[in-house]
Amino acid sequence: MRDNLETIVPKDKETIVPKDKNTMQSFIDLCRHRRSVRRYTAQPVEQEKIDYLLRCALMAPSGKRLNPWEFVVVRDIATIRAMAPCKEYGAGMLETAMAAIVVAVDTRKSATALFDGAIAAEHMLLAAEEQGLGACWCHIEGRDEAESMIKQLTGVPDDLTVICVITLGYKDEERKPYDFDKLLYDKVHYEKF
Ligand SMILES: Cc1cc2nc3c(=O)[nH]c(=O)nc-3n(C[C@H](O)[C@H](O)[C@H](O)COP(=O)(O)O)c2cc1C
Repeated sequence: MRDNLETIVPKDKETIVPKDKNTMQSFIDLCRHRRSVRRYTAQPVEQEKIDYLLRCALMAPSGKRLNPWEFVVVRDIATIRAMAPCKEYGAGMLETAMAAIVVAVDTRKSATALFDGAIAAEHMLLAAEEQGLGACWCHIEGRDEAESMIKQLTGVPDDLTVICVITLGYKDEERKPYDFDKLLYDKVHYEKF
């Protein structure tokens, strides 16, 4: 397994594609550096960066191209802070986030709606890292109390399902990138489990 991967991921190389200001980091580096960032500085997030993330989300694949997702961009800090108590654990990033994007889906529109929403959310997490922002997935789906609070604060209609809130901001914490040597290669099976 390792031998196979080393043909595409040289062990001794920091990056596969040299990174500089004018070179987009390789996708594998983007994946490596994307970590959940839960603390943000007070620097506002530019609207252009939010637009960039939304474009990336709107290009996400969806089952039968039914596009069952809806996105609510929240820039009002008071609203973002009001979302923070939506659940007892795991929503602390809403206490410092400078922007948030609520990802909701219509499960009546598509049998794959939850997957579609999750993929769109992941596009945004990766795009945020590429744009130099920190981001985190705050899970809402299946948490009834949290979901009704988010709906009440953002006007998401009752018949939609809120999957998550993606919190955004400039990083106020350092997260180590993933180490190629420590990836869970034993999760990969060839031909048979
Ligand atoms: C489906 C899903 C739900 C998550 N829910 C939360 C959450 O509610 N609160 C939180 O702080 N992090 C949440 N996370 C972030 C994970 O904790 C994080 O991705 C995981 O610990 C791996 O760390 P990394 O993102 O830095 O690689 C969620 C991530 C996913 C994919």
